[in-house]
Amino acid sequence: MPTIPAASAVALPASDAVPCTPDPLYDPAGVRHLFDRMARSYDRMNVMLSLGFSVLWRHRLLRLVPATGSPRRVLDLMSGRGETWATIERRLPQARITALDFSDEMLAQAQRRNLGRFAGRVRLRREDALEQTTPSGSVDIVVSAYGLKTFDARQLERLAAEVARTLRPGGSFAFVDVTEPACGPLRVAYRSYLRWIVPLAGLLLLSDPTEYRMLHRYLAGFGDGSRAVAAFRAEPGLEVEVRRYFFGCAMSISGRRLGTDEEEARSSAAVRILEG
Ligand SMILES: C[S@@+](CC[C@H](N)C(=O)[O-])C[C@H]1O[C@@H](n2cnc3c(N)ncnc32)[C@H](O)[C@@H]1O
Repeated sequence: MPTIPAASAVALPASDAVPCTPDPLYDPAGVRHLFDRMARSYDRMNVMLSLGFSVLWRHRLLRLVPATGSPRRVLDLMSGRGETWATIERRLPQARITALDFSDEMLAQAQRRNLGRFAGRVRLRREDALEQTTPSGSVDIVVSAYGLKTFDARQLERLAAEVARTLRPGGSFAFVDVTEPACGPLRVAYRSYLRWIVPLAGLLLLSDPTEYRMLHRYLAGFGDGSRAVAAFRAEPGLEVEVRRYFFGCAMSISGRRLGTDEEEARSSAAVRILEG
């Protein structure tokens, strides 16, 4: 079984490398621990509790990046157990995927259950997405499914900056995550489902609802995803589009890395507006 590059171990953030966030919910060590504990059951529970929508939205995610049979360097951020790789390959058959996650257990499950099928085409890296060693401008496409909601506003700004830094000019990116629907009754139903049914399913199927109760807390914090949208829109190197799915139960943020000329034109236009 291939091993995860040792170099990635040193790339994990020391607690003093990532600024402390006031809300412990978004503490990277806590998030890592949560996914370490969820790793064994994650894929089963994810598909079942999302009633299959998680799979559908991963397909939507990949439709947001240009399909091509040419080789592409793809960075899968917050890659989990490799749930997105098959969809990436269908859309981009020549993709060379670098999958990045900071949970040892999620990576171990990825290695055990998925890596064999993608031998030689997927490289795993144990790293914090906010402290990456990915060289600047070295990636054609960044994708990520369901990894946004465990970041606070400041971390999301950092994530958007990392996307802009690692993508080559003209490269594409796409993120998808669950959100709270805008419509009142649907939002109440959705919250109740996450608050009561999901932990109950955790209790019945896994005898421990603790981790699955956290989903409700992260989603309540993430709301309609506007803090993620604001973070990506504030990044000068990115052109950003937002889409909503199934009455706002999920959202994608996608777009492309601007070329240097476009970025300069955009910032001088912004200066002209400020001067005007
Ligand atoms: C909800 S799972 C998503 C897994 C997978 N992408 C999918 O489609 O189901 C979120 C993953 O993001 C990882 N993660 C969260 N914050 C991270 C960070 N700062 N750096 C790297 N991975 C992170 C977790 O370890 C977990 O595996």
